[in-house]
Amino acid sequence: MALAYLKPFEKIQAVISEELEEKEQAESSSGEVQDDTKTSISSKSSSMDEVTTGNKKKGMVLPFEPHSITFDDIIYSVDMPQEIKEQGVNEDKLVLLKGVSGSFRPGVLTALMGVSGAGKTTLMDVLAGRKTSGYIEGNITVSGFPKKQETFARVSGYCEQNDIHSPHVTVCESLLYSAWLRLPEKVNAETRKMFIDEVMDLVELNPLRQAQVGLPGVNGLSTEQRKRLTIAVELVANPSIIFMDEPTSGLDARAAAIVMRTVRNTVDTGRTVVCTIHQPSIDIFEAFDELFLMKRGGQEIYVGPLGYHSKHLIDYFEGIQGVSKIKDGYNPATWMLEVSTTAQELALGVDFADIYKKSELYKRNKTLIKDLSKPAPGSKELYFPTQFSQPFLTQCAACLWKQRWSYWRNPAYTAVRLLFTTVIALMFGTLFWDLGTKTKKGKIWPMQWVQCMLLFFSLASKMLHPCSPWWLLKGQSFIEKKLLECILPCHMQLPRS
Ligand SMILES: Nc1ncnc2c1ncn2[C@@H]1O[C@H](COP(=O)(O)OP(=O)(O)OP(=O)(O)O)[C@@H](O)[C@H]1O
Ligand SMILES: [Mg+2]
Repeated sequence: MALAYLKPFEKIQAVISEELEEKEQAESSSGEVQDDTKTSISSKSSSMDEVTTGNKKKGMVLPFEPHSITFDDIIYSVDMPQEIKEQGVNEDKLVLLKGVSGSFRPGVLTALMGVSGAGKTTLMDVLAGRKTSGYIEGNITVSGFPKKQETFARVSGYCEQNDIHSPHVTVCESLLYSAWLRLPEKVNAETRKMFIDEVMDLVELNPLRQAQVGLPGVNGLSTEQRKRLTIAVELVANPSIIFMDEPTSGLDARAAAIVMRTVRNTVDTGRTVVCTIHQPSIDIFEAFDELFLMKRGGQEIYVGPLGYHSKHLIDYFEGIQGVSKIKDGYNPATWMLEVSTTAQELALGVDFADIYKKSELYKRNKTLIKDLSKPAPGSKELYFPTQFSQPFLTQCAACLWKQRWSYWRNPAYTAVRLLFTTVIALMFGTLFWDLGTKTKKGKIWPMQWVQCMLLFFSLASKMLHPCSPWWLLKGQSFIEKKLLECILPCHMQLPRS
């Protein structure tokens, strides 16, 4: 009844706030065209000077400390899978990363590329501390200090490839929820709101602030908007280092360019951003500052700047004997993958990983890693007085607040639950009705108890069935991402399903 009369839910679609609608109308009547179709990606700015200026220009409400991350000779291995052992392999360990080294710096956008199965996601997971199994060797430093997962989790963000969001909350609420749980306790509600507004501006989500997220492929936000929301959810935690796993995969050229523009905006605030990327267009590829190219087997074959029109990269590969020159206008991203395939290696009789290890570039990178592995004079190691950003009660309040909206806007689910609860109450009520006066203690009681349990479990499974689709999004557990994430530590890395 309450659900019917109070009209709590709305159709799930992209809702544009009234204020913005008015603004847009005013703009269109004055002949101005909304710059919505603008797909250009703002120019790179890798120098720290520009970054600082960019930072001031954006005027972020919450300051953050820029951090670099270096990794030296990272070897990651797992226990040999049974399937491979059955094929006659005797080794105990399968090495997925064979001693990779590099550095990611503030204000520098790095592309992590390579053929499928090269180990891009594995490397990002190892660096972000998301690997719950396997053996990691090598040094990882954050601003010159050895990486500690508890503190690193507080200054880093990870945008997963699958955009998992609660479908029944709005864009603004999703960000509020993330910010509430992940920003420090000392940030008050007003500042938090201002910061969220800034982030929404940065990732161009302001026109969609009141839109419900919806279910992927069914209603609500488009894939590209969902991707920008994923980035924003991480950004509202004010991280210094952000990992993004394939932010443009599955998007068309225009949508990919919009996402890349927001990624570029993020880098220009002085953050350290690393993206794995597949088959980028020339425009997208050239929006990156640096490239970390891997080959199958978990080895790097080029780590360095791209240069204007990818000049440095092209010069490097064209300098290798036997490598065919790039044709005019050809996409350098496609070309470099084509010339560095295993088939090409066999044809030329070379190993690109070996060539890289003997190059000047490798030596320069090693020197850079060495320099960045020492703390800057006067700098302090990351320290947080508490384990989590927010106390337990605040975490509970945030979860309840969001769950309340999720249930309120999903009347079908809530109504079914109400109905089943009533039915179960009636059934149990009738089963036990007046029992105390009719039965002798210890005789019929155990039988009754068994009956009740059977009834309860059969009904409970039926009760869960109608509500499962909305929290099992494409096989991804809603509980995993949202509920456990905040009941357990909000930054805790959860194993993937
Ligand atoms: N836990 C594991 N056990 C065994 N092999 C694994 C494990 N995790 C990853 N691999 C293997 O390691 C290799 C690298 O995987 P990874 O997901 O990092 O590749 P990728 O470069 O991200 O590929 P894609 O471009 O397809 O995302 C793959 O061959 C994968 O099968
Ligand atoms: Mg991957």
